[in-house]
Amino acid sequence: MSHSSKAQIYIDSNRTISSISPLVFSGFLEHMGRAIYEGIYDPASPHADANGLRTDVLAALREINYRSIRYPGGNFLSGYRWLDGVGPRDQRPRRRDLAWQSIETNQFGTNEFIDFCKQINTEPMLGVNLGTGTIQEAADLVEYCNAPAETKFAQLRAEHGYPDPHNVKYWCLGNEMDGPWQIGHLEAEEYGLKAREAAKMMRWHDPDINLILCGSSNAYMPTYPDWDRTALEICWDAVDYHSMHHYANNRDNDTSSFLALAAEFEGYVDTLASVLRYIKAKRRSKHDVYLSWDEWNVWYKATTPSDFRGGWTEAPHLSEEIYNVEDMLVVAQWMNVFLRRADVIKIACVAQSVNVISPLHTTRDGILKHTTYYPIMLFSQLASGAALDVAVKSPRYETPKFGDMPLLDVSASYDETTGKSALFIVNRSQTDSLPVELNWQALSPRAISAVHQISGTDPKAVNSFENPFNIAPVRVAPPVVQDGRAELVLPPLSFTVVETDLA
Ligand code: AHR
Repeated sequence: MSHSSKAQIYIDSNRTISSISPLVFSGFLEHMGRAIYEGIYDPASPHADANGLRTDVLAALREINYRSIRYPGGNFLSGYRWLDGVGPRDQRPRRRDLAWQSIETNQFGTNEFIDFCKQINTEPMLGVNLGTGTIQEAADLVEYCNAPAETKFAQLRAEHGYPDPHNVKYWCLGNEMDGPWQIGHLEAEEYGLKAREAAKMMRWHDPDINLILCGSSNAYMPTYPDWDRTALEICWDAVDYHSMHHYANNRDNDTSSFLALAAEFEGYVDTLASVLRYIKAKRRSKHDVYLSWDEWNVWYKATTPSDFRGGWTEAPHLSEEIYNVEDMLVVAQWMNVFLRRADVIKIACVAQSVNVISPLHTTRDGILKHTTYYPIMLFSQLASGAALDVAVKSPRYETPKFGDMPLLDVSASYDETTGKSALFIVNRSQTDSLPVELNWQALSPRAISAVHQISGTDPKAVNSFENPFNIAPVRVAPPVVQDGRAELVLPPLSFTVVETDLA
């Protein structure tokens, strides 16, 4: 792959797409493998605080600043009895978790999760079990969490040491209920009817909650997108968000196509956005439902049978994917899509947060940030305000799966309250540096405040406990801005963030 010429990016502070929902910078934590036990909660670790939470993990999670965390699953949710995980720890049952064939000790449950969220200043997002769980149990959990301590389940919360309501605002109505692998899988209509009744009862306990409906588990499901249409037609007025899940892979080792996956992500959003528009029109509704991409990540290396089945042990090593440079570039593009489609994507949760398909990896006394940690951190820290509709003129390259694609994948944000703007650029070339001219239209910066860059010459390069900062952001010297123009050279296989103050 060899390319010459130059690219141009035009940034116009007036050309806004929509405000960026901070909840697109959210995470996901499931009772799976070593995500909870040995991940965030590990009383045996030298880094544990008095409650058994890992202080080194808490510090990394504060830095990456997830605005919300979805919990407790995932597939685990569909067999979970929430009452097992509250109350005195020595009375909580050990159970077989059928989803991951693991032993669940229930030493970590709803209240510990809420305490953990407070420690990292994140909004809890709880799921209710619509697999084996009843609509009554779903409503009881809302009472337990959000009602004043005057009735049975809310009083139980007070007895457990929490007199004040937790006020959990975000609630998922089950998980991947379209999937035959799901415990208590339902057909779309059955699910829609159950979710609608659960939603009704949950809102009677607390009318202020936000509800997220299960969409298709991925865009390859034979029932997609009909599942989405059917469930939404039944639940339209009862819900606020519709979920989408997707895990990207480079199983064919076709890196040029893998690096162009934003095309596929956008296609998936386009289809579901159309379904939302169709139902809104059909129902003559004034209500809006937005997308919650509440499981997204690269996941294909750690997918052997032993990555899914824990052999009935506690905290087995499941799906501990190691992320490389090309994965990091796919993650960065995915977040570009969250900005470019900020009009319809209002929640996104990277799956997951620690050890299991995660940007963070722990040993009993150590923590490692994988390559993907850094783009998530940069977006989460620097993208705010509105997404801008940047115009990009880029040389193109050939891919086996998507035909010819632009070498650059770009998004931008502009926060008019602070004047801060950030430009996020992926160079998909595996071989060539690409000069790019930045042109500001309308507001322009006097200077570029910072340029952060992550790159690697080998798409398969990773971080390890021996070489933890092999792939990490570096600050490069900002180019001069003159007459609203600046020029940068983007290395091959790179992700660059340009920070400016627009005046
Ligand atoms: O994140 C791992 C699993 O992937 C989740 O439990 C499930 O929802 C999805 O299939």
